[in-house]
Amino acid sequence: MSKNTLNVIAEELPVDTGVKKVDRRRLADVLNQSLAGTYVLYAKTHAFHWNVAGPQFYGIHKLTDEQYQDLAAAIDQIAERVRAIGFPAMSGLANYVAASPVADVDVSTMPDAQDMVGQLAADHQTMAAKLRKAVSVAEQADDVYTADLLTARIGVHEEAAWMLNSIVAQ
Ligand SMILES: [Fe+2]
Repeated sequence: MSKNTLNVIAEELPVDTGVKKVDRRRLADVLNQSLAGTYVLYAKTHAFHWNVAGPQFYGIHKLTDEQYQDLAAAIDQIAERVRAIGFPAMSGLANYVAASPVADVDVSTMPDAQDMVGQLAADHQTMAAKLRKAVSVAEQADDVYTADLLTARIGVHEEAAWMLNSIVAQ
């Protein structure tokens, strides 16, 4: 199989499930942005899980463990949904960082425990807001499955933000 043929396969798969191609393409874009944000938040949650220190270490270390595992599963779900609607799933860490609504973190600027939790709570809310827009694109395209998947993710992000905000509540 030539490289060219592989590219054609990666570019687009035949899909005929009642959602128009132009709508599927737009939906694939917003799903890939959601994938990028989820990937960056996964990496950031993991980085904080490893590097957190201080009196709240145990609680934050445990909570971020649950959260990065959920995010890892979501990455796979979202990417495979992009494939199921016929388009390539975004790949490349640099591409994820560029497309993510959530900022990456560097070890040289690792925040303290309070700031870590505050940042993650804000990031989960950013993801919920981003996904809300993606749901409306899915609904306009009549792609009920994608709308359901993303709606469920909104609930998870809102719950994560609640738990994180509760740790730093005064
Ligand atoms: Fe761990």
